[in-house]
Amino acid sequence: MTKIKHTLVHIVGARPNFMKAAPVLRALDKYSAKVRQVLVHTGQHYTENMSDVFFTELGIPKPDVNLHVGSGTHAQQTSAIMTAFEPVAMELRPDLTFVYGDVNSTVAAALVCAKLGLKIVHVEAGLRSFDRTMPEEINRLLTDQLADLLFTPSLDGNVNLRREGVAKNKIFFVGNVMIDTLIRFLPAAQQRSQEIRERHGLGEYGIATIHRPANVDDLDTLRPILGALDEISREIKLVFPVHPRTLKNLGDEAKSLTKNMLLLEPLSYLDFLALQASAKLIITDSGGVQEEATYLRVPCLTLRPNTERPVTVTEGTNILIDRNLPRLKKEVKAILKGKKNKHRLPKYWDGKAAERIAKVTIDHLRG
Ligand code: UD1
Repeated sequence: MTKIKHTLVHIVGARPNFMKAAPVLRALDKYSAKVRQVLVHTGQHYTENMSDVFFTELGIPKPDVNLHVGSGTHAQQTSAIMTAFEPVAMELRPDLTFVYGDVNSTVAAALVCAKLGLKIVHVEAGLRSFDRTMPEEINRLLTDQLADLLFTPSLDGNVNLRREGVAKNKIFFVGNVMIDTLIRFLPAAQQRSQEIRERHGLGEYGIATIHRPANVDDLDTLRPILGALDEISREIKLVFPVHPRTLKNLGDEAKSLTKNMLLLEPLSYLDFLALQASAKLIITDSGGVQEEATYLRVPCLTLRPNTERPVTVTEGTNILIDRNLPRLKKEVKAILKGKKNKHRLPKYWDGKAAERIAKVTIDHLRG
């Protein structure tokens, strides 16, 4: 009798998905006698520097399917992913479909699978900002309600899921897959660190990244943030890789910035990691960057009123600044004067989260 392999589909679409899926694909590859893995790229992000370069640098296999959905409003993008993915799911009838993080691709694929009676695995489950004005919070809440296996990066995730009525036996605290990727690629990033710093003429520097709709979509909000960053850059040079969403609104504002604000195209994974590792401080509104800064012990000032990653504040180097720009400047000054943060590495941020996921997955398939 021929032994039939289980089919596992992995859905990726936007930049932060790629570094989360990479270690899971790799860990499950060790069980290739038991499972067949199919990688589906929704095409939510599609340009070289938002997508392709991550596949190359992280050694992610070429997607088996690309849905090429591209950009659009939330409804357009989510429905385009659903419409394009449904026939793929119907044909493959996967035993498990892995969705990652909290982007539109995550919830869209989960909805398709749920309606087809297909089992869903959510990697990075249980995170909550408790702020439903964030599109990602809606995506997180819905995906977790639909998922059959939920892998959490920190124990607050388990508490949130239990409170929302998710059965205990579906929830597994495995640690942070994004940190798996960081640990694996840090040596390679460090190798190119000197070259990048020389290329951009960097001595001591900070990093700024902003792309949240709440910070960048309205010019009246973006302008004062840029003003504060510009002021900070007189004290410490700021490297500012500009996300396409931010670029749309930046327009003429960019011209008024001093040359101590170094505006760059979005960076590759290794270049950005290299810069983060040697930065004096990071100012951000990204989720993943808060975690990476915590791992790297770099002080992180987050331009948001809340975070779905509370361990970065309670254990790591993160401080929530909201849009309190006077406070931002004050905290930067304190860091430059040598203020030290407390720091403890959150549990299971140890490079082995994907291995734990693979083990639970295989046990689950065995029944
Ligand atoms: C998405 C995620 C967000 C994540 C971010 C990381 C959702 C709801 N949001 O936001 O959680 O933090 O990705 O980057 O899923 N664009 C390009 N090239 C690309 C992709 C997009 O130029 O490859 C431009 C398009 O003009 C597009 C805009 O960027 O309209 C925004 O892209 P979109 O995918 O809608 O959302 P992000 O802001 O990237």
